Amino acid sequence: MVFRLKERLGKRFEEEVEFFKAWQRDKKGVGAVIPTSIHAARRMASVVNPRSGLSVLELGAGTGVITKAILEKGIKPGQLISVEYSRDFYEGLTQRFPGVDFRLGDAFALDDVLAERSGEQFDCVVSAVPMLSFPMERRVALLEDLLARIPAGRPVIQITYGPLSPVIKMPDRYEVSHYDFVVRNIPPAQLWTYRRTI
Ligand SMILES: C[S@@+](CC[C@H](N)C(=O)[O-])C[C@H]1O[C@@H](n2cnc3c(N)ncnc32)[C@H](O)[C@@H]1O
Repeated sequence: MVFRLKERLGKRFEEEVEFFKAWQRDKKGVGAVIPTSIHAARRMASVVNPRSGLSVLELGAGTGVITKAILEKGIKPGQLISVEYSRDFYEGLTQRFPGVDFRLGDAFALDDVLAERSGEQFDCVVSAVPMLSFPMERRVALLEDLLARIPAGRPVIQITYGPLSPVIKMPDRYEVSHYDFVVRNIPPAQLWTYRRTI
């Protein structure tokens, strides 16, 4: 029991070190100093509908905290497709979560990254891509691309650290809702959801 606890804490520490090193190499691309907390990850995964029969699309999986929370919601590994930009994170993810369809690539070029699955409809999108590192027009373009890949009414959920929605409101094109403020995250995180209005 004590040994297993030590082993788990050791693994978590390793992941935090791995994450911090990635942040030192690419501060804008990684966008946070330590991994998302389990509390924020679970809140994000709470939008997943395991009964939809559709796969879930995850973006910016990093060390896999949110990946794990999505799987814990009852999504089978084969029903999760997850895009990660950093090769180091990607390699760790493929080892940690066998059966998940990880894609090494850029969330802003999804047709290329999803390749043979680019025409697929997903249940929802769970995104930790550091939106604030990109210009607003690219954020809007990414969001609209994501919304076209899920049924109307289903959410894209995005984590961010600023006080405002990282994507501007466009009520004639999509709906923006504040989903939660997670204090138990470093830094405290805001969760936003976006849905197609038509
Ligand atoms: C704030 S971190 C969150 C990672 C994860 N939630 C965790 O706690 O380990 C953002 C992640 O998005 C990835 N990322 C950044 N830009 C990306 C892009 N254009 N496409 C896909 N992933 C990207 C980074 O490599 C990093 O893993």
